[in-house]
Amino acid sequence: MRYGRTTLSKFLIEQARGDATLGDLAALLIDVAAAVKSISAMVSKGALGGYLGSLETQNVQGETQKKLDVLTNEAVLSNCEWGGLVAGMVSEELDQPYAIPSEYPRGGYLLAFDPLDGSSNIDVNVSVGTIFSVLRHSGSGAPEAQSFLRPGREQLAAGYALYGPSTMLVMSVGRGTHGFTLDRETGNFILTHPDLLIPADTSEFAINVSNERFWEPPIQRYVTECKAGRAGVRERDFNMRWIASMVAEVHRILMRGGVFMYPRFTRDPVRSGRLRLLYEANPMALLIEQAGGAASTGRGRMLEVEPESIHQRVPVVLGSRHEVERIERYHQEFDCGADQPYVSPLFNERSLYRQEVS
Ligand code: F6P
Repeated sequence: MRYGRTTLSKFLIEQARGDATLGDLAALLIDVAAAVKSISAMVSKGALGGYLGSLETQNVQGETQKKLDVLTNEAVLSNCEWGGLVAGMVSEELDQPYAIPSEYPRGGYLLAFDPLDGSSNIDVNVSVGTIFSVLRHSGSGAPEAQSFLRPGREQLAAGYALYGPSTMLVMSVGRGTHGFTLDRETGNFILTHPDLLIPADTSEFAINVSNERFWEPPIQRYVTECKAGRAGVRERDFNMRWIASMVAEVHRILMRGGVFMYPRFTRDPVRSGRLRLLYEANPMALLIEQAGGAASTGRGRMLEVEPESIHQRVPVVLGSRHEVERIERYHQEFDCGADQPYVSPLFNERSLYRQEVS
């Protein structure tokens, strides 16, 4: 049954009808969706496309670039630079903000994006994604790096594309979080998951446990309690998932709840987290909050963080609200000394968390 389906364009036009300021924003989101379709086509070709494998180059993060990192970055830039909607762009793959070429008019929006999140998965045919965030450009000239340093609460729109068994685009313009599925026969994104809602409670967590020895005590405490299951203070069994692709992880949480953590590493002060604030943590935080969940650094709301640099990293805790609140409470208790020092079972010491700290 095709008739009556809501395409992305129809959805955005209807949203803009009630709010004239959304007109240009809708046009920009349609350009982003066009980039996503090209990326989806590239990614789905897999080894047949000749796109797999790494290059000799590194990105600004010091990570070896995949061929697809570069090609997907080009796809977003070329789909969004010409329309007179964007003033400048920041990408995970570019050291400095991208200036709109002089032959195109400059618009009023700033676009920050990670063109291929979780790209280490690409060679093994596991889900990857694209993440984006839209801010208003408040100045009149070409934006500088400083122009992008706005807290996430000022985002006008955010979203991600998930290249999984199907390609989905999940986005918010601040009126709920909505999911669209790419119909490959017609080339349209169809609204399939309107008004996503994350359950406040969950028994599923996601974290890269191989880093456990580097975590701060509040995170060690939380995960230890989850792993203790029914016999521990949580009095129920937890399940764990780790896809190593933030987009896939967040998507699972939007579909069925859960909590995702990428905390800071205590022994590496330079690494205040792994994920980037402007184009990973902030857009995901907006989507999660708009779906009734919570997103935090562990010590405060993600969307309140004042960015200091365009590629800044940040600790991330997001998902089902009650679990995120619990993890924030564990940080507060640790910071004010209201709990006892946690001694990791890795060092063969007895955990002090036999009783829940109230
Ligand atoms: O760079 C971002 C990212 O690929 C995320 O998509 C993912 O959550 C994380 O890094 C994976 O980290 P790790 O390599 O520690 O599993």
